[in-house]
Amino acid sequence: MENLTRRRALSIGAVLGLTSVASAPGAWSWSSKGSIAGTDAVTDPFTVWDPDADDVAARLLADGSIPAVNKAWGSWVDNSDPLPSGMPGYLTDYLTQVNRLPSWADPALLAASEKLYKRLNSYLFVSESLGSGILSTVIPREARAVYWSAGGADMKERAAKTFTFGYDLHSPTAWQPSGHFLVSANKTRLVHSTVRSLLLTSKRFMETADQPKPISNGDILVTFHSVATVAQNNLKKWGVKLTAREQAADLHAWQVALHLLGVQRQFIPATWPDAQAQADQMLWPRVAPTPEGISLAKTLLGYVEDPTLGLTTGFVSEMVRYLISDTYGDWLDLPHDRISRTLIKAAWPTYVRFREGLSPIVPDGLYLFDQVVRGIAMLFLNNGTSPTQTPITLPTANRPG
Ligand code: HEM
Repeated sequence: MENLTRRRALSIGAVLGLTSVASAPGAWSWSSKGSIAGTDAVTDPFTVWDPDADDVAARLLADGSIPAVNKAWGSWVDNSDPLPSGMPGYLTDYLTQVNRLPSWADPALLAASEKLYKRLNSYLFVSESLGSGILSTVIPREARAVYWSAGGADMKERAAKTFTFGYDLHSPTAWQPSGHFLVSANKTRLVHSTVRSLLLTSKRFMETADQPKPISNGDILVTFHSVATVAQNNLKKWGVKLTAREQAADLHAWQVALHLLGVQRQFIPATWPDAQAQADQMLWPRVAPTPEGISLAKTLLGYVEDPTLGLTTGFVSEMVRYLISDTYGDWLDLPHDRISRTLIKAAWPTYVRFREGLSPIVPDGLYLFDQVVRGIAMLFLNNGTSPTQTPITLPTANRPG
């Protein structure tokens, strides 16, 4: 099964545009020459966690101050907001150190990413929600961690919180004083640190755990590739034209995001070809179905379906199959809908080129695709702009039961 899964995954990697054949998990050989640190060392990122943030989270759990912190965080939203009062001093000290851009951040490239995302965010939302969101359910470590953590029992809220991160990163003001991304990323980093402590106490999670602690630097990079590297490939496949500067801006926004999530510079890819090589080694050999992932996918897809927007079970399933491949669609037991399948395969790339002004051909299903794009965007935008948006908070327990 392991070999079969791996072989299938590699051929899918090739179909999704990821080039070379990967090594088996464990034989880590990606050199930090391809990283923004530019050193030349081979360190396995799956053996590296986030000690400073993990210490802070362990203390917050131990002294019972998480409810007070979550309350204090309510007023900490904009990049320019001062750190809130009402938090333990050691948390304030930690956040004072990390709640800032790294010295190597390039403000001009970050501004270019805001412009790029403003143009492309509707396609990115489709790729990231129906594509990467469901792809995450065939990444066993992520699927199990999400399922057995508190958020796994309420996936609607959990998905809404994750959308907050995506929305804030792709916002036209992401990095500006009125933007939110710096704050959302710092909150997310501490959520991950809290989960690292909590999941070790979950009997059900530990039954299948294969690491001393979950969510290593390597695991975070796997997720990055399943979102950002896959999106780059999708945009290319759909014929969206990106200049070299725009591609660099997209990568740079993610490089800074990875840093803010606690990933060391020696693992953060310096260029898209470096990222592709890393994804070949760390993402595709690791995908596999799990009972937890199958359950999460079903729950998530149930939220997206909305017949009034043309988002029927058949259409959504085929859109997911189109985005992540039939192999993974079969693992997740997604239903088939031959009419939607034919339409999506033939008309979606034409639709994107038409909307990008690259082709005068009006695609079949123009209205339907407009509805789909609008519907998916609303999932993000409602969350991002509604006064009742779901704030990212620290968990205090695992999934009950
Ligand atoms: C929580 C984003 C990687 C497991 C979150 C949250 C966000 C997020 C925004 C907060 C929302 C919430 O509390 O539910 C990301 C991003 C990643 C990443 C952007 C990488 C680029 C990972 C990985 C794992 C993971 C690799 C596991 C292997 C979790 C879990 C929670 C969480 C278990 C807490 C769920 C809960 O109980 O509420 N993540 N994540 N994440 N993430 Fe991640």
